[in-house]
Amino acid sequence: MRVAVAGGTGLVGRHVVEQLSAAGQEPVVLARSRGVDLVTGTGLDAAMAGVEAVVDVSNVTTMSRRKAVPFFEAVGGNLLDAGARVGVRHHVVLSIVGIDRVGHGYYQGKLRQEERVKDGRVPWTVLRATQFHEFAQQTCDRGPGPVVVVPRMRTQPVAAREVAQHLVELVLGPARGMAPELAGPRVEQLVDMVRALPRAGHRRRLVLPVTFPGPAGAAMAGDGQLPAGEGPRGSRTFEEWLAESVAREG
Ligand SMILES: NC(=O)c1ccc[n+]([C@@H]2O[C@H](COP(=O)([O-])OP(=O)(O)OC[C@H]3O[C@@H](n4cnc5c(N)ncnc54)[C@H](OP(=O)(O)O)[C@@H]3O)[C@@H](O)[C@H]2O)c1
Repeated sequence: MRVAVAGGTGLVGRHVVEQLSAAGQEPVVLARSRGVDLVTGTGLDAAMAGVEAVVDVSNVTTMSRRKAVPFFEAVGGNLLDAGARVGVRHHVVLSIVGIDRVGHGYYQGKLRQEERVKDGRVPWTVLRATQFHEFAQQTCDRGPGPVVVVPRMRTQPVAAREVAQHLVELVLGPARGMAPELAGPRVEQLVDMVRALPRAGHRRRLVLPVTFPGPAGAAMAGDGQLPAGEGPRGSRTFEEWLAESVAREG
């Protein structure tokens, strides 16, 4: 089966593509670097020929509501319209645990993405997952200086590869609506994860923990980003992932 992977060159998208191929399916990568712009729709119809299912793991790197909402609105709309034209039978979106409890700007975009798919004509599944193990480094990448400001945040991080595995299982099955939330095996403090990064060869920086103001900050520091109920749990801990990345880097 031809399965379009929107964002198939990204962090989790690469694993989705690899695992679809390993499962004997035919992934079709939708990304600007492959000639498809999901915001403008350029190249999309040609790439969607013969596609029966879609996994949307596209992304925009921003914390701004004004950038995130139009991005996810446009990408969701274009993908769903193109999918409806070729008779896509299942549209799977990767979302994030807690986006309705922690109201920052990027999460407004993710909520819009979820609404788009729920209002669309294509049968859908939304998988909300917790932060990837890579999230600690992504947090550091937001600022170049010697000091990194890290929100006080409890998270139950999961391996991107295990998220991809769930997405592939879901897309090959029937549409499920809101799927049970996926999380990693253990609750961690983001500050501790960032402090552990130099053990894997990442640059050592001074970590400045901050509690974000208002209800969003309180939710992040509390249970706001943890799964609300039962659901699948990845097996690889952040410690194991870190140890493997040390071995990989040599
Ligand atoms: N990071 C986390 O901890 C986490 C946790 C749970 C869920 N998620 C969700 O997982 C999804 C994937 O995140 P990620 O970190 O794997 O993404 P990523 O590494 O930032 O990759 C983004 C992908 O989107 C593509 N893309 C961006 N703009 C595009 C455009 N205009 N047209 C076509 N393709 C475009 C990129 O390819 P080109 O640059 O070639 O266009 C790339 O393949 C996101 O929706 C995110 O909300 C993330």
